[in-house]
Amino acid sequence: MTLTAISSPVIELNCTSVIYRKGKEKVAALSEVDFTLERGEFVTVTGPSGAGKSTFLQLCGGILSPTSGGVRFMGLDRGRMKDHDLASVRNREIGFVFQSFNLLDYLSAEENVALPLMLAGVAEAERLELARHRLESLGLGHRRGHYPGELSGGECQRVAIARALVTEPPLLIADEPTGNLDHDSSSVVMEIFASIHREGTASILLVTHSPWVAGFGNRTIRIDSGRLV
Ligand SMILES: Nc1ncnc2c1ncn2[C@@H]1O[C@H](COP(=O)(O)OP(=O)(O)OP(=O)(O)O)[C@@H](O)[C@H]1O
Ligand SMILES: [Mg+2]
Repeated sequence: MTLTAISSPVIELNCTSVIYRKGKEKVAALSEVDFTLERGEFVTVTGPSGAGKSTFLQLCGGILSPTSGGVRFMGLDRGRMKDHDLASVRNREIGFVFQSFNLLDYLSAEENVALPLMLAGVAEAERLELARHRLESLGLGHRRGHYPGELSGGECQRVAIARALVTEPPLLIADEPTGNLDHDSSSVVMEIFASIHREGTASILLVTHSPWVAGFGNRTIRIDSGRLV
């Protein structure tokens, strides 16, 4: 199963809610959200801190399961998908840039970027070359041997972006990918997302607090207090 082979919307949420439970406390992080991401769209997501944006992205990326309501990937009902199909969608079809990067501390920058290629069965020499190329495109060729603990926050963020892009997945989901970057680095990153959108090679869902970054999308949605507004 691949995203590119199926003509249904890439993601559909139908009256979907997420409630976190922490002890006796319940947090309604997303409430009855309806959303469709069509193929080739670049949707930017804005909203205040704590509004539910990261929760929304994790739901759309198959990382979180809904408390109620439906989630469909390429027309397939998440609730009916077998574990290995969901894992395959997550590993092969979606490049996810986490707000907190989620780099592996014991791997170098280039090994972190090469990891999804290893999972996809690409040979070592080829995957390291692809990883280097990605890091160079983000201005990090000279840091490829550094470990995350030896990189700045903005450099870690760009490594995380390189890792999401390296397999050229048909769906890119990015949680505040320019949150730690200065204007020049943000421009480099956003030009990469914009060119992917222009070429139509991936659908993109991107959270940002920056109106300038939000303007790169062909559509912007806003989440406030767990609702699409
Ligand atoms: N694992 C969790 N357990 C309990 N509550 C959670 C959990 N994760 C998030 N929350 C709560 O759910 C709400 C939505 O969180 P979320 O991370 O989606 O917000 P956000 O819009 O991404 O915020 P920010 O802009 O600060 O990143 C917040 O009130 C948060 O405290
Ligand atoms: Mg967030």
